[in-house]
Formats: sequence, C-alpha cells, structure tokens
Amino acid sequence: MSTVTQRKSEEIGRKLSALYAPIASELAEAEGIFAAELESQFPFVQQLVDHSADFRGKRLRPALVLLTARASGQIKPDHAVLAAVVEMIHTATLVHDDILDESLVRRHVATVNAEWGNEAAVLMGDYLFTHAFHLAASLETTLACRWIGHATNLVCEGEMQQVGNRGNFDLDEEAYFAIIQGKTAELTAVCCRLGAHYAGAPEATVRALDDYGRNLGSAFQIADDVLDLWGEERATGKSLGTDLEKQKLTLPLIRLLNTSSPKDAQSIRRLLADATPQDRVKVRELLDHSEAPQYAWAQAERYASMAASALDVLPDSPCKAVLRTLTQYVVRRSH
Ligand code: IPE
Ligand code: IPE
Ligand code: MG
Ligand code: MG
Repeated sequence: MSTVTQRKSEEIGRKLSALYAPIASELAEAEGIFAAELESQFPFVQQLVDHSADFRGKRLRPALVLLTARASGQIKPDHAVLAAVVEMIHTATLVHDDILDESLVRRHVATVNAEWGNEAAVLMGDYLFTHAFHLAASLETTLACRWIGHATNLVCEGEMQQVGNRGNFDLDEEAYFAIIQGKTAELTAVCCRLGAHYAGAPEATVRALDDYGRNLGSAFQIADDVLDLWGEERATGKSLGTDLEKQKLTLPLIRLLNTSSPKDAQSIRRLLADATPQDRVKVRELLDHSEAPQYAWAQAERYASMAASALDVLPDSPCKAVLRTLTQYVVRRSH
C-alpha cells in the first residue's frame, strides 16, 4: 500500500473506530472468530484468506449486529459469531462482485481476481460462503442459518437481476430500487434483525430494526452508486466507474434519462449502447450538468431519514445514538 492510501484508510478506520467504541471488544472478538474459521492448512488458501483479512473494510454489517443487540437488549456470546458470519457473507459477495465488474482495486489493495485471477476468486468467494454457513450452523438452533440463508438468496437474486439488466437502458426507478433492496438492503436488514432477536428484544422492536437496516442499506447503496460516478478512488479504495463501463443503470442515470427530452434521451441511450471511452466521457458531462446527483442524494437522504425514524422504538442509549449517526454517515461518506 502507498503511504497516501495507507494514511487514508487509517483515517477512515479511526473515524469508524470511534463510532464503534461501545462495541469495540465484541467487534474484536468477531474478528478473531472470522480469522479462526477461515484458517487453512494449505499455504495458497491461507494466502488468499490473509489477503482478505489483512485489509479490513468498514465492518458495517458486524457493527450493525452488535449495535442493534446492545441498543435493544443484551449482547450474548452468539452475537460475535453472527457478526463474523455476516462479514464473511459480505466479503464473499465482494470477491464475486469484483469478478463481475472486472474491478482491480478493493479496500486499497489489488482485488483477488486482479492478483490471482478469476478462477481463484470464484473459489475464494465460494470458500467464504461455505465457511459462513458452516460457522452459522455451530449455533444452537437453525434460525440464524435460515434467516441468513434467505437474505443471501435475495442478495444473489439482486446481483443476478443486475446482470440480467445489463444494457437495458429502459430500467426504471422501481426496478432499480428492487435490485438494490436485494443486493444490499437484505443483508443489512438481517444483521439488525439478528442483533435484536438474539438480544431478546420484543417482536415489534425486531421488526422496527429490520426496517432500520433495510432503509439504511438502500441509502448506503444509492450513495455508493453516486460515489461510483463522482467519488475518488483514493478515498473509496476501490475501482470506480464500473457501473457505466458495465452498462448498469443506476439512479443518477435513470434520473437523467427521465428528465431529458425524448430526443435527448434517445441520444444518451445510443451513447450508452456504443460505450466507447469517449461516449462515456460525454455521458459523464451530461450527468455533471444535470440535477441527477442532487436528486440521487435526496433519495438517499429520504431512505436515511426513514431508517432514523425506525429507531423511535428504542430507549435512548449510546448505541442508539451511534445507530442514528450511521444514518447520517451513510449518505455523507466519501468512502
Ligand atoms: C460495498 O460495501 C458493497 C456495497 C454494498 C456498496 P462496503 O462499502 O460496506 O464495503 P467494505 O466492507 O467497507 O469494504
Ligand atoms: C455490489 O454493488 C454490492 C454487492 C452486494 C456485492 P457494487 O458493484 O456497487 O459494489 P462495489 O461498488 O463494487 O463495492
Ligand atoms: Mg462492484
Ligand atoms: Mg458500487
């Protein structure tokens, strides 16, 4: 890692670490479980495992499990296991997603596909998925496996829907929201539901926190899609611009098409279909001069404020305050 990227990722790490302070020890425990579960006797496998473990992401999903648990009841030993499981599922989806997007950088370092090729990356993603369910099956009941299994089914369907809609320049907002609901919001929702349920929270609280996680996840993905167009790779630590390159229509572009005259929309569709680098530059210019980014941020804000309202069922506490801060963080982040 260069000194600049290292400094950047340490800075982000520090900000989030401060936010995660009330659950720091449980988060560290989850990281220990994560590493122990993935350990392999084979040096090549261990090398891939170390690569994904050394460079941590934002750890949003395990943090959600733990924060919702403490905000709605008590953190129990099962929570650290659940936190490790959801981070494993998330990491698996990223490893596979980077193959689909042909991304070269993730978490400030080379992606598994860039470093070891697609074959190793497919298998590494599988390794993470199977270990996640192997670990979840160590819990006393099958409930977590069922819930996480169901959420992961929907994540996969979301990603498949996205692939199926590549090059579909008529994709509308409703279809876009359904895709992000599947590929991103289902996982953040199940994190919060698990956190609350395993903490012994009443059913109404479990439902409200599911709602919180779902809306937070949608806001998070809309912001991610804006960052893919206007973010800085140095800050996000991952390859950007892949949505346009892969002809995936996201909210800003859908908005631009919806607000252009039929004739202009047709010429944008032609640029998207030909998709030479020069065509992409033209589309970007049109986006830059439109109100599409503001519109997309406003939609992200709308989901974030629905997430914040869902927290009303909780009594005031430090963890509730962090959950609320996260609703602002997801739409104001640059990484
Ligand atoms: C990236 O998730 C994938 C999306 C759902 C947008 P994160 O941005 O949470 O990735 P890491 O874990 O911090 O690297
Ligand atoms: C994929 O969305 C999110 C997943 C659920 C895997 P993106 O393709 O936008 O994620 P990034 O931008 O590569 O992290
Ligand atoms: Mg991607
Ligand atoms: Mg993205």
